[in-house]
Amino acid sequence: MQKLAIQGGTPLRGEVRISGAKNAALPIMCAGLLTSDELHLDNMPDLHDVATMRKLLVQMGVAAAVEQGAVTLCGAKVDKLEAPYDMVKTMRAAVLVLGPLVARFGEARVSLPGGCAIGSRPVDLHIKGLQAMGAEIHIEHGYIHAQAKRLKGARIFFDIVSVTGTENLMMAAALADGVTVLENAAREPEVVDLANCLRSMGAKISGDGTDAITVTGVEKLHGASHRIMPDRIESGTFLVAAAATGGSITLTDTRADILDTVLEKLTEAGAKIHAEGDRIHLEMNGRPRPVNLRTAPYPAFPTDMQAQFMALNAVAQGSAMVVETIFENRFMHVQELRRLGAQIDIEGNTCMVRGVGHLEGAAVMATDLRASACLVIAGLVAQGETVIDRIYHLDRGYEHIEAKLSQLGANIRRIK
Ligand code: EPZ
Repeated sequence: MQKLAIQGGTPLRGEVRISGAKNAALPIMCAGLLTSDELHLDNMPDLHDVATMRKLLVQMGVAAAVEQGAVTLCGAKVDKLEAPYDMVKTMRAAVLVLGPLVARFGEARVSLPGGCAIGSRPVDLHIKGLQAMGAEIHIEHGYIHAQAKRLKGARIFFDIVSVTGTENLMMAAALADGVTVLENAAREPEVVDLANCLRSMGAKISGDGTDAITVTGVEKLHGASHRIMPDRIESGTFLVAAAATGGSITLTDTRADILDTVLEKLTEAGAKIHAEGDRIHLEMNGRPRPVNLRTAPYPAFPTDMQAQFMALNAVAQGSAMVVETIFENRFMHVQELRRLGAQIDIEGNTCMVRGVGHLEGAAVMATDLRASACLVIAGLVAQGETVIDRIYHLDRGYEHIEAKLSQLGANIRRIK
């Protein structure tokens, strides 16, 4: 098990390039199943989850030519319509092959994802939507077995906003017979990035980015080239790390227009932020002010930034309330932060964080992707050494994080 050792107390300074977005790359790779032509993807992040998704597609017969920061997929020779349990259990986003497989091949066998650290994370909305489009679905031996001669357009209402649910059904609808309307759809920028890629492949989609997406199915989709959007959660994570350490950093190859609530909360915490083109500059002097947070679907405050802000609030001048409304168990980082001296009480889906003057380095354990990021930020702030175990969680979603942080002056090293 690899660990990260961090000597805290150094303000982050300098410039860092933001990588392509994990949560855009994963659904867009699955779009490669929708055509027999080549799909060329640029600005691909070098992440464990991206490698897992690539392996999953290749075992189905997709050709994948990997270059530095890019991949060319070709679904011409897909001969296995299955996503096996051993691949799905480590990455729930594997469920995103379901819609494309049923839409193009009329059949799919996809393992149920099972739960994960942050919650049970069912896929009932994905299944309900495909059934509404005419798919016959049976759950047997832990697998979703879906069949459909040809999917039909349908009006589908999500009673809970689901990002990958919206993405799965948008891809399925792209090749369905007729018009599909997704109501109460997810508005996340990664949904829009997928829609942009699908349109470049010939799909007829409108309304992406709003809560009502209309897809008019076509017979076939053709190949295309697409550049993956910047990762807004990686961007937010580095900005919070700079704010927590009282530093001054510039992000490049990023976008500010998809980070409104995060930038607003950082400003409320006392950071000076200047965004221009594909760069965001953040300056922070002194201790942060506490910021109350309530997570909700985009464009509200993102649940994927909740843990990172918990680390910031842990050293703020005062108390803050953090409410997590998306996942039922996304406070796993709290008990680890307490080991570093944080004062946090949990009541159901609400945390009361009382800022302390300083944190003290200790041995802690990562439990999920964003909790790991929270512990890295806390380690950068804490006095002394913090050693974070099980950092494979971190490698799933942050490209070369210790190299990027070292570049910003952090004293951080990986222990084999
Ligand atoms: C996506 O997960 C992201 N993953 C998550 O990022 C992110 O936290 C989440 O959206 C919320 O923004 C990817 O895009 C690959 P949901 P997803 O379906 O789609 C419930 C990270 O850190 N639900 O929007 O799986 C579900 O239990 C990851 O990068 C159902 O009940 O999340 C949750 O409470 C973590 N039935 C809520 O909806 C369903 O069929 C939102 O889940 C689907 C979801």
